[in-house]
Order: sequence, then C-alpha cells, then structure tokens
Amino acid sequence: MRKPIIAGNWKMNKTIKKSVEFARELGETLNDCPDMEIVIFPPFTALYAVANVVRDTNILFGAQNMYFEPAGAYTGEVSPLMLADIGVHYVILGHSERREILGETDEIINLKMKAALNYRMKPILCVGEKIEEREKGKAEDVVHNQLVKDLHDISKDEMVKTVLAYEPLWAIGTGKTASPEDANKMHAFIRETIISLYDKRTASKVRIQYGGSVRPDNIDILMAQPEIDGALVGGASLDVESFAKIVRFKRSVLSFDDK
Ligand code: 13P
Repeated sequence: MRKPIIAGNWKMNKTIKKSVEFARELGETLNDCPDMEIVIFPPFTALYAVANVVRDTNILFGAQNMYFEPAGAYTGEVSPLMLADIGVHYVILGHSERREILGETDEIINLKMKAALNYRMKPILCVGEKIEEREKGKAEDVVHNQLVKDLHDISKDEMVKTVLAYEPLWAIGTGKTASPEDANKMHAFIRETIISLYDKRTASKVRIQYGGSVRPDNIDILMAQPEIDGALVGGASLDVESFAKIVRFKRSVLSFDDK
C-alpha cells in the first residue's frame, strides 16, 4: 500500500511572516488528515521558523534544493548537514526550473540524491519532458534517461525512501495539465523503469507524484489514476484554502490499498 503524498512547492514566494502564518493556519485546517503525508516546501529563509510551527502538527516540511557537500567554500549554497540540523524531512531535487534556469545536470542531481539520503532526508526527484520532446515522441526516452542517471548507485533501500515526481515542463505554471490518462501512462512507464533498474517489489513501494497545474478542480481525477500516488503542487499551494482542498481530494472507488 502506498500512502498518498501531497506536497506544496512554494518556489521563490513568501516572507518569513507570511510563511509562518500560512503554516499555522494549514496545521489547524488539516489536523484531521492522518492517513496521508502533507509536505510544504517554504523558501530557505523561512524554513527554520516554519519548522518550529509545524513541529506538533501532521504537516511535514522540506527544502526546495540543496548542495551535495556538507560544508566548505561554496558561496551561497545550503548543505545537507544544515538542512538535517533543522529537521528537514524531504528535499526536492532535479526540479525542471533548476535544470533549465540554473543549469543543473543529471550528474549533479545524482550527487545531491546520494547526499540527501546519507543525511536521512527523503528526496523528491523530479523528472519530465519538454513540449518539443513530447511532440517528437521522445517523452519516455527523456524520462528514462533522467531516471537512469539521477538514480545511479542508489541502493534498493534508498530507492524505497525516494519519491518521484513526474512534472512535464509544458504543464508547469501554464494552466495546462497532462490528461489523467497521459499522466497515468507516464507514471506506469516510470514504474516499469524502476522495475528494470531494481525489481518489482521495490517499484511497487515507490510513490510517484504528478506535478503541473494541479488545482482543486482537477485533483480528484488525477488521484483516481492507479499509478498516481500524490501531487507536487506549485501555484495552487500558495493559498491555504486551495491547498487544503487539494489535500482533501475525493477518494475514488479505487482504494489506496489497491495501489
Ligand atoms: P504549478 O502547480 O504552478 O504548475 O507548478 C508545478 C511545480 O513545478 C511543482 O513543483
């Protein structure tokens, strides 16, 4: 059985004050959702303050990125040791905005994966194709290649702690969501890839989130897909009411026991 995981990636938004207010309100609003994981990803400046607010709630928190070395002369970077020090549970790695805008390579992402796991933080590894790649019929090749490189030398035990997020670039912040069937098909392909890299048992435990214009009005149908185990939400996670509605998605007849 895979526990659903709904996460809010705030990206470069919110001051400390707004982050703390949000976390407090969310904790009160969602205090009765025990059978799932709810994770928020505030900006670095607000992480410590948010950690203190969510400590006694069922909201987990994570970082949107990190460097792979524990300490040293890396001006401007934040280390896994520093994040572990404030009790970070999850870290988003390989987000397409970092790959595209900050030039992050699969080799760097792989080093970050290993570092996060070494410090007992769970990575949410993002993969996904660009629109041109999809139009050329290369979406699966692109995602396969990212998985093979980003997961290089990650053990089975580490893999089951890792969450994957399929985020097609053309669906991020555009209002265009992948159709539930297309998303499910890619998730099934991702799971097949994990079977080929590991084994069936490992793959059956790995949760795969969908990300890209997830909103309260499309979450039910996305979560009804057998291969979709959660959502990584950007824009719609910045407002308590809309994020709480997403977390309270309507369970379909397909129970999570069947997933
Ligand atoms: P949007 O939900 O704003 O499309 O962003 C998705 C995303 O990039 C989450 O990591």
